[in-house]
Amino acid sequence: MATSSSLLSTDVRRLEGKVAIITGGARGMGACAARIFCKHGAKVLIADIQDDLAKSVCNELGPESAFFVHCDVAKEEDVENAVDTAISHFGKLDIMFNNAGIIGPIFRPGIQDSSVSEFQQVLNVNLVGAFLGTKHAARVMIPAGRGSIINTASIASTFGGAASYAYTSSKHGVLGLTRNAAVELGQYGIRVNCVSPYMVVYDEVTRNMLKKPGVANLKGEILEPEDVVAMALFLASDESKYVSGQNMILDGGFTVTNSGFSIFNLNLT
Ligand SMILES: NC(=O)c1ccc[n+]([C@@H]2O[C@H](COP(=O)([O-])OP(=O)(O)OC[C@H]3O[C@@H](n4cnc5c(N)ncnc54)[C@H](O)[C@@H]3O)[C@@H](O)[C@H]2O)c1
Repeated sequence: MATSSSLLSTDVRRLEGKVAIITGGARGMGACAARIFCKHGAKVLIADIQDDLAKSVCNELGPESAFFVHCDVAKEEDVENAVDTAISHFGKLDIMFNNAGIIGPIFRPGIQDSSVSEFQQVLNVNLVGAFLGTKHAARVMIPAGRGSIINTASIASTFGGAASYAYTSSKHGVLGLTRNAAVELGQYGIRVNCVSPYMVVYDEVTRNMLKKPGVANLKGEILEPEDVVAMALFLASDESKYVSGQNMILDGGFTVTNSGFSIFNLNLT
């Protein structure tokens, strides 16, 4: 099995001199991205609602490299302030990583049991948050004539039944947002892409879930936070300078697999 640390070698610092905002950077994939982006030479502003957790990530990375701003991504004034703080503190903004997201309620996922308020809450964070991050990043990236905006979607951006109505709708929306913004902002040299992870393995529960028949396609590997960040790092860096409008799906081939039918499972001889 490949190790993520070998994939993320810092022999070449791929974000040297760049400034990034990472929403939802207090924990999970956002915190992982903050650590790896900094290792690659970026200055990082963590925008999150969990102040203590976010501050501890910043302390670990050091005041030269990381800064925290309290930001609820669903509130325009907070997102506007986060972007303005990146400019006042670090002087510019090269990378906007709209990563913050919530799952919302997962039990009783049927539409009759789904409430409007829960639906709107998930949409507000996952989709409105990415919209506001894109809007305010574009505000400062357009005059600069460059920038990379990365949105975290999910494999739930590509098909139904993997998550709740709210989550699936929000992540389909993130993909639409990404495509629209890539088309509009390309004229200013700004690239917009999304990363769509499958189930990220944090613990034994998810690890065991993936072992069930039909749940995963690729054998011998699991998806770890570092693997998602490796894709975000590529999209943030100049290595992806001609990549825009894409949905980078990290699923070991799951979304192109029809578990019910495949000629590779038929005995045709
Ligand atoms: N974990 C997975 O398997 C998986 C799979 C596909 C996509 N994703 C997506 O990846 C992203 C990160 O997921 P994760 O697993 O690291 O989640 P996580 O819950 O570990 O971290 C999410 C972070 O977002 C922050 N956050 C939540 N609401 C916020 C708000 N209103 N404003 C600002 N920050 C807010 C939280 O405080 C937290 O720090 C999310 O968009 C999620 O939908 C996760």
